[in-house]
Amino acid sequence: MDLTFSDAEPTAAERAVIDGLLGAPDSVWTGAEQRSEQDLRVARTGRSRERRDELLPAFDAVQSAIGWISEGALMHICRQLGVPPAEAYGVATFYELLSVTEQPPRVLHVCDDVGCRGFGGTELIAGVEEHFGPEGAVVQTSDGESATWHRSPCIGQCDRAPACYAQLAGTDDAVLVETGTDEAVAVLTGSSPGGAPDVLPPQVEGMRLLRRVGVVDPTDLDAYRDAGGYAALRRAVELGPDRVIEEVKASGLRGRGGAAFPAHVKWSAVAAHAEGPRYLICNADESEPGTFKDRTIMEGDPFALIEAMTIAGFAVGAEQGYIYIRGEYPIATARLRGAMQAARTAGMLGEDVLGEGFSFDIDLRRGQGAYICGEETALMNSIEGYRGEPRSKPPFPTDVGLFGRPTVVNNVETLVNVLPILEEGGAAFARIGTDDSTGTRLFCLSGAVDTPGVYEVESGMILRDLISLAGGEPAQVSAVLLGGAAGAFVGPGDLDLPLTFEDARSAGLGLGSGVVMVFGPSADLGDATTRIARFFRDESCGQCVPCRVGTVRVEEALGRFLAAGPRANGAGTRERRLIEELDLVMKDASICGLGHTAGTAIRSALDLGLLGKSEVPA
Ligand SMILES: Cc1cc2nc3c(=O)[nH]c(=O)nc-3n(C[C@H](O)[C@H](O)[C@H](O)COP(=O)(O)O)c2cc1C
Ligand code: SF4
Repeated sequence: MDLTFSDAEPTAAERAVIDGLLGAPDSVWTGAEQRSEQDLRVARTGRSRERRDELLPAFDAVQSAIGWISEGALMHICRQLGVPPAEAYGVATFYELLSVTEQPPRVLHVCDDVGCRGFGGTELIAGVEEHFGPEGAVVQTSDGESATWHRSPCIGQCDRAPACYAQLAGTDDAVLVETGTDEAVAVLTGSSPGGAPDVLPPQVEGMRLLRRVGVVDPTDLDAYRDAGGYAALRRAVELGPDRVIEEVKASGLRGRGGAAFPAHVKWSAVAAHAEGPRYLICNADESEPGTFKDRTIMEGDPFALIEAMTIAGFAVGAEQGYIYIRGEYPIATARLRGAMQAARTAGMLGEDVLGEGFSFDIDLRRGQGAYICGEETALMNSIEGYRGEPRSKPPFPTDVGLFGRPTVVNNVETLVNVLPILEEGGAAFARIGTDDSTGTRLFCLSGAVDTPGVYEVESGMILRDLISLAGGEPAQVSAVLLGGAAGAFVGPGDLDLPLTFEDARSAGLGLGSGVVMVFGPSADLGDATTRIARFFRDESCGQCVPCRVGTVRVEEALGRFLAAGPRANGAGTRERRLIEELDLVMKDASICGLGHTAGTAIRSALDLGLLGKSEVPA
């Protein structure tokens, strides 16, 4: 594709999609077919880029409707938004789910990650391959369409493995869970629309965050209100912004997105800025392999997230919020869009919320298949229409965030916790759990357990008990991946760990985003660690050398370690030393958390002897 403006024109269908989203262009400079009055009077050079943040939604719209982004579509978007084609091309090619080369309208992404591989995923891939040929092969289907398939990193359905995500141009995308080759073939050939059943989380006494999921109709605002919805927002308005933040402080709530940062500190910092605009971002990217808790909330109780964001916006003085949701969550996306619309119609979003004189609205942005966009500064770049590359910190988002303005970024689960905090008071909330880990916590149980799913339990539950709760057999556990691919393996000797931030930290671990992936005695941990190494190699944004090169070298060294056998000719020791050094360099010198954690799980597996024993390097 030529990266300067070319004469390529969009097709009529592409033009309709783009103009439908961005509005009809007002002059030939911005892509109108006919000269307008404006063209005759004004030479439009040096157009401002104030609409650049519409770039990703425009790509999303074309990709969803047409199935790929042609040169003509790209040029039309660039003219409309005043973005140079080279930059727009750089953005489009950053994302896995966007294609700037022609591809079939039906694309099946078959999960090939740790949560699915050992649990039917490998067989599913073999079945799809047998039917359609190798990954990427284009097949013509009997209804006159074409289709293809790819292996995919985790798609957030580990409780219902094996799973696929189907991009279906011109119609709703689909998710297939606990699926088999027949269903995958039916979706690709157009004889089934696909679709996943609603989630009913395992019922655990004392559930607060999940109490409405599977019980209250997630599409009905009145049902939400009848079940206690919007009581927390009314309480927030009674208290006023400062006292809401005080309640959050009293609650001891820490972030559930991975870093466990106290929520009130961010909120106070943003509220303290004298001038707006300030922004609130809900991080719903949830791309950490093994994680699916936020999806459960968004699909099952979307109004709760909308209400919680409204409270957060009110407290910090933000009038605009964003939900950045991963692209592979079509059901959650549709539910949230429906909930936002219903809330707007009922005066719960928009200008003068509840008639109380404050404004707050939410814009939803779909990620396009880049794990790194869950990192908060990469996420902001992505919303702004740039490549999803992390920014150096400081400055922190609370000072210089989205569009350079003070911004709170919180995870879905963090935000939803604000509802019980306001309903019962911060102090009462703080009495649940431990002093440093207050409240309940959502854990994503998957792997070798009878009843995988999202478990809401009091912080401090013992890992062994949680595994038993999910129908796992602690005596049969060979390893647990705690915290996701960015977390660490623990062995059978670690099952008495209390699941709190402080206990995990003193054991040199992290709870991350609540992943508890259980491996049984026959699990192939060499395969699991190899997949994790490949994940980080693929997902590194490539911006800084330690991570870009380090993730590749770790994968290679691990391959040699596993191939040689740890004791063969000392090769095991050599490779292990190399992995340790690479991990150290990535931790020390990378820009963001991806590089800091890319070697952690593999090192932990080596340290525990899960991949075979080798001498510990001197
Ligand atoms: C590579 C990477 C991916 C991340 N992905 C997510 C994610 O999907 N969801 C999330 O809430 N936080 C994610 N985070 C953490 C965010 O940067 C940020 O800390 C979090 O959204 C803050 O919210 P919290 O304070 O409520 O936890 C990720 C961090 C890194 C380094
Ligand atoms: S650490 Fe990796 S993902 Fe993060 S900025 Fe550097 S290259 Fe990108």
